[in-house]
Amino acid sequence: MNPREFREVGHRVVDLLAEYLEHIEEKPVFPSVEPSTLAQFFAEPLPQNASPAEKVLGELEEKLLPYCTNVGHPGYMGLITPSPNPVGVIADFICSALNQNIGAYTIGPAAVAMERRTVRWLTDLAGYGEEAGGNLTSGGMMANFIGLKLARDWASRDKAQEQGVQERWAVYASEERHVSVDKAVDAVGLGRSALRALPTDAEFRIRLDALEAAIAEDRKRGIRPMCIVGIFGTTNTGALDPIRELRAIADREGVWLHVDAAYGGGMLLSHAWPMRNRGLELADSITIDPHKWFYAPLDVGAILVKHERRLTASFGLKPSYLTDELDRANERYQYYVHGFEQSRRFRGLKVWMSFKRYGAHQIGEWIDGNVRQAKHLHSLLAEHPEFEPASEPPMSAICIRHRGADPDEAQSKELHAEVARRVEQGGTIKWIHACIGPQDPPPSLVKSLTNCLSSTPSSCPWETPLSSAAAAKQLWPAVRIVGVQAEGAPSYFLSWRQGRAVGTDTCDPIADGLATRTPEPSNVDNNPRPSRA
Ligand SMILES: Cc1ncc(COP(=O)(O)O)c(C=O)c1O
Repeated sequence: MNPREFREVGHRVVDLLAEYLEHIEEKPVFPSVEPSTLAQFFAEPLPQNASPAEKVLGELEEKLLPYCTNVGHPGYMGLITPSPNPVGVIADFICSALNQNIGAYTIGPAAVAMERRTVRWLTDLAGYGEEAGGNLTSGGMMANFIGLKLARDWASRDKAQEQGVQERWAVYASEERHVSVDKAVDAVGLGRSALRALPTDAEFRIRLDALEAAIAEDRKRGIRPMCIVGIFGTTNTGALDPIRELRAIADREGVWLHVDAAYGGGMLLSHAWPMRNRGLELADSITIDPHKWFYAPLDVGAILVKHERRLTASFGLKPSYLTDELDRANERYQYYVHGFEQSRRFRGLKVWMSFKRYGAHQIGEWIDGNVRQAKHLHSLLAEHPEFEPASEPPMSAICIRHRGADPDEAQSKELHAEVARRVEQGGTIKWIHACIGPQDPPPSLVKSLTNCLSSTPSSCPWETPLSSAAAAKQLWPAVRIVGVQAEGAPSYFLSWRQGRAVGTDTCDPIADGLATRTPEPSNVDNNPRPSRA
């Protein structure tokens, strides 16, 4: 591709995407297509010969664009993936073109400086001081893993990096935790049985009496408490654990406090519901996800650490092939020495450009708009004859249940799943639900819920170079409906209360690991044995 072609194709792509964004509201939120059809679209052997860029783009228009989940649609209220802000989209384009590898200073000097500054903005937001540091990660999953690794290494007085886990340790988090915590406890070598999943109170916050009891019980059995994981905005309902109280217990017990603010970190920018006074800065490490509520396009998460030197202690290996002889003054920041990843994309650019273009103030107003919408939906539901809110939303997540039905647990599951499915099929709203069942909900139920959801106002004015009303609404949909719950089926309702919004709940291992796999159209062996010479 020569520069002229690059320019032509680039302009064409920008036009295509501007068009897509401008008309996104006219499309269904979720594409109606079978997985097998999609697999067939792309079932072709490795291309051996070149095709004109025009033809390749044409294929995208035919096979990709019509079958995307339109995450930027105002009716998208599913998993916590925001409508990406367009400056972030452009930043990712620039990032790929420059291909700075910020793992090492020499492969991206200015990019390293910008990423360092971006991390500093985040640590400042969290309330950390000058000694803080961090890394931008692929998301909250990886950030929670790093948080647990930092905890393990600190608890072992930096022996675990060499010797592995020598003691019996325990980690404490509420039942509302994200599954990434379970994975992290496994990945740092403790085994999932070391995780104590503690009950929550009526507002879905960790119960401190249960935490105290679990720690006492572990101590009695010779198990050492290693880490408490607090949650600053649970995935299901946006609940906030009491961080100050967790800090006090962590100090008394000599354990690391990691706080998962992957979702709730956005509330640090809120003007109307400021959450900068909730003690987040007391955590030893924090997960925060700019690709959630700072509206950055995927992917960019962050692990923030109160003392940056803990990152170096945990990850500081310097292989000879990366030695930087020119850095006599030790001024060149080498991310690979202070983090898990080596080669890594310049994720900071989209966060940096978003803050520069919109300012924290404007982003905070968008966040307030989302929370306002969740609260508005809550008030509509409170007066609704057929539905009711299952919890008061502290952030933008909201659970809904149906008042009318009085079926048994299985039936109510099916009913709610079917209502959710039909609302989605309507094409204007996408939300989370996972169970499927044959029961037929009354059409009025579907209609009234759709109306209710659609009538939450758009209050997110978005000053945009695309200057269209449709684009202005794209930042709207962070209101998150995480499930519907049935009145008259208390056990079902209770099980959800314990962290079980439909579709996000399971921490059980999937037996064969292939539960949702679509059959491959080709003869690819998905589980090849290593070949022996
Ligand atoms: C509280 C919480 N922590 C961690 C994660 C994982 O984040 P990611 O999907 O960015 O890996 C999520 C995702 O929804 C979350 O809600």
